[in-house]
Amino acid sequence: MPNKDCVLAIDQGTTSTRSIVFDKSANALSVSRREFPQHYPEPGWVEHDVEDIWNDVVDTAREAIEQAGGIERIAGVGITNQRETIVVWDRATGEPIHKAIVWQDRRTASTCARLKQEGKEAMMRSKTGLLLDPYFSATKIAWILDNVEGARARAEKGELACGTIDCFLMWRLTDGKTHATDITNACRTALFNIHEQKWDDELLELFQVPRALLPEVCDNSGHLGETDPALFGQPIVIGGMAGDQHAAMVGQACFKEGMAKSTYGTGCFMLTNTGEKAVESHHRMLTTIAYRINGKTTYALEGSIFVAGAAIKWLRDGLHLITHASQTDDMATRVPDSHGVYMVPGFVGLGAPHWDPDARGLICGLTLGSTQAHIARAALESVAFQTYDLAHAMDEDGAVHADTLRIDGGMSANDWFSQFLADMLQARVERPRDLETTALGAAFLAGLATGVWENLEEVAATWSQERLFEPRMDAGQRRRMLDGWQDAVRRTLTPEQ
Ligand code: G3P
Repeated sequence: MPNKDCVLAIDQGTTSTRSIVFDKSANALSVSRREFPQHYPEPGWVEHDVEDIWNDVVDTAREAIEQAGGIERIAGVGITNQRETIVVWDRATGEPIHKAIVWQDRRTASTCARLKQEGKEAMMRSKTGLLLDPYFSATKIAWILDNVEGARARAEKGELACGTIDCFLMWRLTDGKTHATDITNACRTALFNIHEQKWDDELLELFQVPRALLPEVCDNSGHLGETDPALFGQPIVIGGMAGDQHAAMVGQACFKEGMAKSTYGTGCFMLTNTGEKAVESHHRMLTTIAYRINGKTTYALEGSIFVAGAAIKWLRDGLHLITHASQTDDMATRVPDSHGVYMVPGFVGLGAPHWDPDARGLICGLTLGSTQAHIARAALESVAFQTYDLAHAMDEDGAVHADTLRIDGGMSANDWFSQFLADMLQARVERPRDLETTALGAAFLAGLATGVWENLEEVAATWSQERLFEPRMDAGQRRRMLDGWQDAVRRTLTPEQ
């Protein structure tokens, strides 16, 4: 019988689900991926059908296991997921009572504005490290309870369960035996005290969320559950679970204080390891838990950008400018610059550092000489400019200064973008051998729990750089571009911001 020397990672993202089997040298032996439909019932609303997600998880996991040589090789499974997206389901049947409300959804913007006006943000921020924004789960949970008939009463009686996608998958994979979430997903709900590391009564009261709905909170690595034998032929230990950005920290081996990574998926999320300290930001960054392993907590400062790859997807599906994301590399290099065109991709409002849920997207600087290539280039540039805004804010906070940034996710495959990023940040940008770092991080967490890897040092030793991008743009040119960007952002923000 072959050794159990591999780990299955399930990466449930905002627009696609991937299952990947990794071996001990962190090589991907198999990959299975499915894109799934997005639902936009009203402007600013974004929903997912969780049955689509569930079916894709099972199908891709089965395919990946089979392609990698079968279940006998799998020591454990790690789950990673789009964070904040919330599901409420019936404990008796496992059926969701509403579609999942996705992290990008802005329907609770007015609730957040009201709570802000009532002066609740400081208390919420000091406990959670977050801001009052519809991005986080708490107001979405309350919305479901208040808009699905009978839901609030059922929740109070303990008949319903809720959780982020990791938690829902844990429930389904264990056939309802385990209702658990991990600490990194818990800390994005706005209900979890990141210092005391527990659900917080004052926050539950503020957001009107009954405690009976909530899962147990666990470490990111350990014997967290076991899959139902009916799913994959035999049970598999669920050994790792983490929100995708936190898993990417692990996959990028950002284990030391000051190390930073930026992941370019649907959005872009830059996290800097701040060690054992929960650093409070004065520039509207988030304080978050990077990971907790063996009970030891490591914190991070996070900058969250809501639209990165989603802007490229919009070029493809909304504007039909391209048929494949990879074409943007060629388009961007076809023109010497963006010809004064700027795109601010505020499709779902703006995240850090502006936190303006009512902002909307903008393309400006158009002339009769503007072409498709300029617009494509402006879209790519906007993602680098936004990353600059995050790095600048973190720098201003003074807590961390990262002179090197590790990048991953789809857009980081684009050489032109990676170089432009290094130019804007005036920092070294390191691209690893494997860009599926989020899945790899989930695999590491599961592999640490099941003996595939001994410790974080062994994990870090598998990390290797594929290419380094160093800044080379003239300082004046860079300044002019950043000034143009800031001007475009000013036009995008809602007046009182
Ligand atoms: O906070 C949302 C984030 O976890 C979504 O990640 O990879 O789908 O952009 P992604």
